[in-house]
Amino acid sequence: MTSETPPGPAPENLALWLPKRGRPFEVGPAPYTRPGANEVVVRARAVGLNLVDGIPGVGYRLILPWVTFPAVIGGDVAGEVVEVGPGVVRFRAGDRVLGHALGLERSTNRAAMGAFQRYVVLMDHMASPIPDFLSFEQAAVLPLQLSTAATGLFQRDGLGLALPTAKPPERRETVLVWGGSTGVGSNAIQLARNAGYRVVATASPRNFDYLRGLGAAATIDRNSPAAVDELVAAIGEGPLAGSLAIGAGSLPKVMAVAARAPGGKRVSSAAPGLVTRILALRAPRGVAVSGIWGGALKDNEVGPAIYADFLPTALATGVYRAEPQAEIVGDGLDAIPAGLQRLRKGVSARKLVVTL
Ligand SMILES: NC(=O)c1ccc[n+]([C@@H]2O[C@H](COP(=O)([O-])OP(=O)(O)OC[C@H]3O[C@@H](n4cnc5c(N)ncnc54)[C@H](OP(=O)(O)O)[C@@H]3O)[C@@H](O)[C@H]2O)c1
Repeated sequence: MTSETPPGPAPENLALWLPKRGRPFEVGPAPYTRPGANEVVVRARAVGLNLVDGIPGVGYRLILPWVTFPAVIGGDVAGEVVEVGPGVVRFRAGDRVLGHALGLERSTNRAAMGAFQRYVVLMDHMASPIPDFLSFEQAAVLPLQLSTAATGLFQRDGLGLALPTAKPPERRETVLVWGGSTGVGSNAIQLARNAGYRVVATASPRNFDYLRGLGAAATIDRNSPAAVDELVAAIGEGPLAGSLAIGAGSLPKVMAVAARAPGGKRVSSAAPGLVTRILALRAPRGVAVSGIWGGALKDNEVGPAIYADFLPTALATGVYRAEPQAEIVGDGLDAIPAGLQRLRKGVSARKLVVTL
């Protein structure tokens, strides 16, 4: 089915609805939405769970105040393209893809674009083909965490680093990734390496081998009382290209490292905007802090640079891996709420995924 050919009866859609802020989810019928210009519709086969999906009502009011209800949430989807809209040339029906579902963005605010439903509308430039060897489950770990890392590293209002390419030059500069074993950090390490930077990262020691496998040159225990000193030593003459602060409590420490290490003083923070702004009031002299909004890249050159230009070949050739490892926590939309509760208890170098 393409937008050029009249469709048969619309497929039956089913969604995990969030009726109101803070209310329990409900599985129920949803309209099937045909793709508009530069959009594709994907039959979801696996969805990834993110911390933002499980925030309580007050969290929604603070972080996503514009969302109208009932809403369909969810940011990570992998599945098959069933229909493409006008202007789409990269995909056709039947293609296996992953995509960042952007239904909760201020500029979209559209239930049809949430991941937690059978048929999801995606923006063409925020989706990538997935190679045959990669399962839907493992592909679904990527989108929101990949987007968040890319926004922090590459947007001009973030660290403004050089974009990843197939054959990056080996650069002298170092990127610091605090929180390297988070999903965001796992992507940040790989993206920075594929842009040619040396990477120094923190995590719990049980995840050091994992970080090195992603390309980190040096690993520091994030719980070490001397972590700041150890990072400054690991960066050495650097110079620093920039730093990412990922995880609760990371920003003050990363600001301290940026103040002491030679080189770039920019720090991008993945904490909620308000938290970042308050903590940044205490930034050491010369250190510049910016907040990350993981969906922002859809509106600038970074989105297509990652999802269209970089990721398809990088995944197919194996220079980029879909990490962290997927842990399947159920099948069907009604398995998602329990999965989100489980996520709230914390994971370590794992991504919770539900198959559909
Ligand atoms: N701004 C945005 O748009 C945006 C988007 C997505 C996520 N985020 C934020 O980014 C952070 C990471 O999200 P995620 O989904 O990637 O997380 P995640 O994969 O669920 O994180 C799990 C990892 O967190 C690490 N961790 C736990 N507490 C930490 C701390 N205080 N500091 C650093 N690492 C810690 C653990 O590492 P070890 O086991 O190695 O200790 C574990 O491997 C969260 O704070 C999330 O809210 C922001």
